[in-house]
Amino acid sequence: MVKQSFKLGDIEFSNRVLAASGTFGYGDEVKELVDVNRLGGIVTKSLSWKPRDGNAPRRIAETPAGMLNSIGLANIGVHKFIEDKLPYLRALKTVKVVNIAASSVQEYCDVLSLLDQQQGVDAFEINVSCPNVKEGGLSFGTNCDMVREITAELRALTKKPLIMKLTPNVTHISEFARAAEDAGADAVSVINTLIGMAVDIKTRKPKLSTVTGGLSGPAIKPIALAKVYEVAQAVKIPIIGVGGISTVEDALEFLLVGATAVQVGSINFIDPSAGPKIADGLAAYGEKQGLGDVGQLVGAMDSNVEFSVLQSWL
Ligand code: DHB
Repeated sequence: MVKQSFKLGDIEFSNRVLAASGTFGYGDEVKELVDVNRLGGIVTKSLSWKPRDGNAPRRIAETPAGMLNSIGLANIGVHKFIEDKLPYLRALKTVKVVNIAASSVQEYCDVLSLLDQQQGVDAFEINVSCPNVKEGGLSFGTNCDMVREITAELRALTKKPLIMKLTPNVTHISEFARAAEDAGADAVSVINTLIGMAVDIKTRKPKLSTVTGGLSGPAIKPIALAKVYEVAQAVKIPIIGVGGISTVEDALEFLLVGATAVQVGSINFIDPSAGPKIADGLAAYGEKQGLGDVGQLVGAMDSNVEFSVLQSWL
């Protein structure tokens, strides 16, 4: 049997496939559709201190090979999460990664400190990259000093794994990954959504109420892969690859370019059992290749390409 598990700090994930934030609710919405314990982990929708209604409709638009969203961090708030959602999550075997979004450094600290005391919260993923809110979001995630500061402040408040989720809407994502690593992050999630838009030609109005939104799905996979590859050359901490992963082949590509684990997002809206299927597929591939551990695939791409162009920008 090929080993599928991996560790971040003290936390052991049973396999290398997690459900991405915002695509799996708080784990309970999908429990009739999929055995969530077959995932390595689930990442919750971003939580803020107070509940948020999010942006006005329309908040979703389909695009070729992808989707645009402008949810605006709608969520039930950290207190209701602890009361209503955590008891269900606590009973699950899968690793529970709680995603936090905030509009100030203090709010990140307050939400994390409260959650850090709770049983059933195994790790944190910090959203410094929501494209759809005025305060916080991208204004934090596109400022390297802010990413460093938020990481350092939160690092001082928790011993649990701290994962910074980075935006691709910058020139060199590797600089942000380095800032997160220097400030004590245990891992980075690469990438969050890309800014995109769509226009309804009948009404001549933007399809999203906020005009622009976050693009996800298969359309962004090659971009995400290149960003993971870039970050893998720059940091030693684990990278969680995310962006358009829908099949086991996609997941394998991410591992080969340097991702320690992957998250599946948009595909959950089509097939909520995609994650466990991909995890099984990784194990089957490892078995076929005669590997003892799926982890042997991490960064195992053969980059000896003849006529390769030296990527001096890396
Ligand atoms: C939202 C947050 C994100 O991090 C993202 O990538 C897309 C949308 C949101 O809640 O609007």
